[in-house]
Amino acid sequence: MSLKRLILSLLCQLMLIFGFEAVVNRHGGGRSTVALRMPPAKHLQVEPGASFKIALFADLHFGENAWTDWGPQQDVNSIKVMSFVLDKENPDFVVYLGDVVTANNVPIANASLYWDQAISPTSARGIPYASVFGNHDDAPFVWPIEWFSATGVPPLRCSSADSSSNDNDECNFLGTTRLELMKHEIASDSFSLSEDGPRYLWPSVSNYVLQLSSSNNSQPPVAFLYFLDSGGGSYPEVISSAQTQWFKSKSLEINSDSRVPEIIFWHIPSKAYNEVAPWFAIHKPCVGSINKEKVAAQEAEMGLMKILEERTSVKAVFVGHNHGLDWCCPYKNKLWLCYARHTGYGGYGNWARGVRLVEITPQPFSLKSWIRMEDGAVHSEIILSS
Ligand SMILES: *[C@@H]1O[C@H](CO)[C@@H](O)[C@H](O)[C@H]1NC(C)=O
Ligand SMILES: *[C@@H]1O[C@H](CO)[C@@H](O)[C@H](O)[C@H]1NC(C)=O
Repeated sequence: MSLKRLILSLLCQLMLIFGFEAVVNRHGGGRSTVALRMPPAKHLQVEPGASFKIALFADLHFGENAWTDWGPQQDVNSIKVMSFVLDKENPDFVVYLGDVVTANNVPIANASLYWDQAISPTSARGIPYASVFGNHDDAPFVWPIEWFSATGVPPLRCSSADSSSNDNDECNFLGTTRLELMKHEIASDSFSLSEDGPRYLWPSVSNYVLQLSSSNNSQPPVAFLYFLDSGGGSYPEVISSAQTQWFKSKSLEINSDSRVPEIIFWHIPSKAYNEVAPWFAIHKPCVGSINKEKVAAQEAEMGLMKILEERTSVKAVFVGHNHGLDWCCPYKNKLWLCYARHTGYGGYGNWARGVRLVEITPQPFSLKSWIRMEDGAVHSEIILSS
């Protein structure tokens, strides 16, 4: 950690103690400054002339098979992928795009332990980040059938670090709820810009918007970054009509004339991804490198895509979920539907791991993307808006 980041980190911790929100101002050169601002504003900033780079960490699946040698080694490998790409690309911001943990594989009461591990490469570097939930983040533990054969249940660490909780709680494998995971992330680390969205959108939780501003106060916002919870785990895989209404009224409220570009992040592709998916090889106008499986879309479409396609300010949607897909395709010539790239060693599939990068340049606005692999290779560069 550089001295500046260390100071930034200390300042942020202080601000947390005194109830301020951190406004993190990182520039292309890695220079960092901090200003104070009262909640609820959480602003990301970019210098005029500079660009703002976002790394998407998709499907990390921490905590798989924690009782074997294989599982923990996968988490070590995932940390390596993230650390390598963070050092190589030096992004200004990271999005954890869901399936951060494989909760149905976590035989301890509290999955935040694994969540913290997944976040650690980013927070240790003092890089702000935000997260959305996937379908594996809040599931209860699924008991492996082998544990009921002669080998029996392996010795589990079923007590949490907190020894004050009673035995029943320690061996409660019912899963950690979305709200518990999110509240823990927000409270434990001042670099988290995540929010546990409006209560009336329950059971979906990761619904919020972050503003990317210009450090020149007389300039309008550079972009709005929207985060939505696409469900799964403890409830159906869907973006609800209520979430759609929330997006509609929020975007009208803060960007009524659609002047500011909007970029959207969630975990499970909507059914619209089926409509644009390439057949066999990826061909223009789609750009990507692997098209190895069928789109595993949400269970229903409750109206969000219609709202998105009607807003000229919506430039692109980014999802994870399908580990064998990494393409971007245009949707109705209005916006781009993009996959990230499977970043984690957890989860199915052995396709090489990588990270999708998204770069926003203000004035004139442009949105660029590419994929950085764990061996350093870069591919699938594309300009999504200019
Ligand atoms: C889970 O553990 C974290 C520490 O890693 C703690 O802050 C949090 O309160 C715990 N959550 C629950 C629901 O026990
Ligand atoms: C800030 O923006 C205003 C309005 O566009 C412009 O006139 C001014 O030159 C900008 N200042 C800097 C330092 O870029």
